[in-house]
Amino acid sequence: MVDIPKESAETRRHPRIAVVWSVLSAEIERFAAGTGATMRILDVGGGSGGFAVPLAELGHDVTVVEPSANALASLRQRAADAGVTDRVEAVQADADELLDVADPGSADLVLCHSVLEMVDYPDTALDMLAKVCAPGGAVSILVANRIAAVLGKALSGQFGTALDLLVHVDGVNEGRDTIKRRFETATLTALVGGSGLVTEQVHGVGVVSDLVPSPAAQAETGTGEALREFELATASRVPFRDMATHIHLLARRPMR
Ligand SMILES: C[S@@+](CC[C@H](N)C(=O)[O-])C[C@H]1O[C@@H](n2cnc3c(N)ncnc32)[C@H](O)[C@@H]1O
Repeated sequence: MVDIPKESAETRRHPRIAVVWSVLSAEIERFAAGTGATMRILDVGGGSGGFAVPLAELGHDVTVVEPSANALASLRQRAADAGVTDRVEAVQADADELLDVADPGSADLVLCHSVLEMVDYPDTALDMLAKVCAPGGAVSILVANRIAAVLGKALSGQFGTALDLLVHVDGVNEGRDTIKRRFETATLTALVGGSGLVTEQVHGVGVVSDLVPSPAAQAETGTGEALREFELATASRVPFRDMATHIHLLARRPMR
């Protein structure tokens, strides 16, 4: 039994991403029930370690593949502050180079959070995620949802931009967006299926948490826990699921 550090536990309970941690925690328990061993986790585009470090704090070995030197520097600092330097490996590489830095079938759990929006070819990236995942292992994917972006713009009165996002083939505001594409549940599921991975769970992440007062204000008024419960209750329910700011998908690599 691993002692869960307080900071890690708080990160995992944050209302906005509670459902992602709930799915990851279940996957960790599933793995432990099968082998009882430490997981080998690969976090592609893992940034400064927002997921990697709490996972290492839970006792797992995490390799972060990330092109940004600045993000890797922050990751190393975060890992040092959390006392998990020995369980976090930082590798500077792009998702396109994944098979140059990770062996096929080498990860029990692969994370690719908020990255498929940025890569040149999401289908190629997904093929590589599937290859580095061990047979029977899981791939956790988090992407921006076009529907939420359209609604967000419309609700703030930016109807022209909302319509642009609605009709653009990739759900972006051409030339003014920082990302290359947004996804919808159906398109993401189809893309994942094309890589040979089998989708097991789809959740909405941030059904309303970006539309309500800030986390600090929620903590002060005591609504943070209620918001967390609301997010967890609506995350898998259509249409709430499909309106959330992000879509989380857990897929599995078949055993053969
Ligand atoms: C929004 S951040 C997400 C960081 C982390 N996955 C998380 O959820 O906290 C996106 C990250 O993807 C990285 N990135 C951008 N293009 C990439 C690519 N082609 N391959 C791999 N990572 C990329 C960025 O450097 C950045 O760290």
